[in-house]
Amino acid sequence: MKVLVIGGGAREHAIAWKLNSSPHVTELYTAPGNAGTAQLGTNLDISATDVQGLVDAVKQHDVKLTIVGPETSLDAGVVDQFRAEGLAIAGPTQAAARIETSKAFAKDLMQKYGIPTGKADLFTNYEDAVRYVNQNPGPLVVKADGLTGGKGVTVCQTQDEGLQALREAMEEQVFGSSGEHVLIEEFLTGQEISVFTFTDGVHLSPLVAACDYKRIRDGEQGPNTGGMGSYSPPRVWDDALAEQVMTEIMAPTIKALVAEGCPFQGVLYGGIILTPEGPKVIEFNARWGDPETQTVLPRLETDLVDAYLATINGTIDQSTIEWSEDASVGVVMVSAGYPGDYETGFPIDGLDAIDEGVSVFHAGTRAQERAPTTSGGRVLTVSAMGASLEQARERAYNNVARIAFKGAQYRKDIAK
Ligand code: AMP
Ligand code: GLY
Repeated sequence: MKVLVIGGGAREHAIAWKLNSSPHVTELYTAPGNAGTAQLGTNLDISATDVQGLVDAVKQHDVKLTIVGPETSLDAGVVDQFRAEGLAIAGPTQAAARIETSKAFAKDLMQKYGIPTGKADLFTNYEDAVRYVNQNPGPLVVKADGLTGGKGVTVCQTQDEGLQALREAMEEQVFGSSGEHVLIEEFLTGQEISVFTFTDGVHLSPLVAACDYKRIRDGEQGPNTGGMGSYSPPRVWDDALAEQVMTEIMAPTIKALVAEGCPFQGVLYGGIILTPEGPKVIEFNARWGDPETQTVLPRLETDLVDAYLATINGTIDQSTIEWSEDASVGVVMVSAGYPGDYETGFPIDGLDAIDEGVSVFHAGTRAQERAPTTSGGRVLTVSAMGASLEQARERAYNNVARIAFKGAQYRKDIAK
């Protein structure tokens, strides 16, 4: 069958790469894609949020299965529209995706159904929020309610930081309307892990977990980014923890979404902190993580088309979705200046010197005659597998060292 992947980051390149090894796939399309996905199939010049454009393209090219990468497409209602047109698409509806697109919806759901999460209050009025921060010295976490491209969460160690975060979100509206409603959440301590499952709305596949690195510099220093690297599985992840996260968090959440009238089909992502009192949710996402996908999908031993079809057909319980025991490490290479201002258009050298079995997933790249050039802040993820995290890490960094573009930056401590 012909398959379309919606999106254009390294996550979508990793999805397309995995789909490309499926015997089901005769032709692969990506919209809008990047220089990496262009090597696997055809890039369509359609934005990930242009729902009508995507519907038209799928009809025109006779695509039989569409996979949604980013949350912005889900929020635009792409799944609802495809379903209304009778087109097969893997991902949650707009209503089910509120688990990610509205932090207030997610928090209410967790509180109502007893899913472990940090205590939080919702504020729609700036003065009330300020009063709360003045009475609760922190540390605390201020979260804008809606989608903010990963920028709407501020961890505030002091009262002043809390007040400033409120001012930016609610008064200056730096996140637009997403900041009209703000959650103030207790600060949780412990290791953070990202947990994923394929679900058909009722059944869940075995979980897979990864860690990601948000800050730009080694040792978790500097500003937050869209993710500087990832590894899978986390060192703490074992059968007992997987069982606990399944029974206390992932399965009850899927059940709760049914009870609320919005069953969730697709990939559910739990952002979890392993606190001294047990695992607690800090966020849910309605899709794969970036950069976690680039380390998790290489570990998937099941055909990815089969897994996605099972989420659509309600047959996750009859399918075997298996994850390799091997470890995986992904290092993100970014442009100088990222996550602030950066220049683009620099040729990327060394992509032809990569070891077999190591994957280079493109994000901000543009295909050119000689070599691809940089076209964004997040440029590449270099992912390698190994019998241990140490082995995977060494392979990943050996290959990162062969890739060069002007001003390239990356963290040296991924999976260390
Ligand atoms: P998010 O955008 O929800 O992934 O949040 C960004 C980052 O803020 C997370 O990766 C955590 O490191 C941190 N964070 C969010 N909520 C909390 C919390 N309640 N306690 C501590 N850290 C948090
Ligand atoms: N890795 C964080 C995210 O995808 O939201």
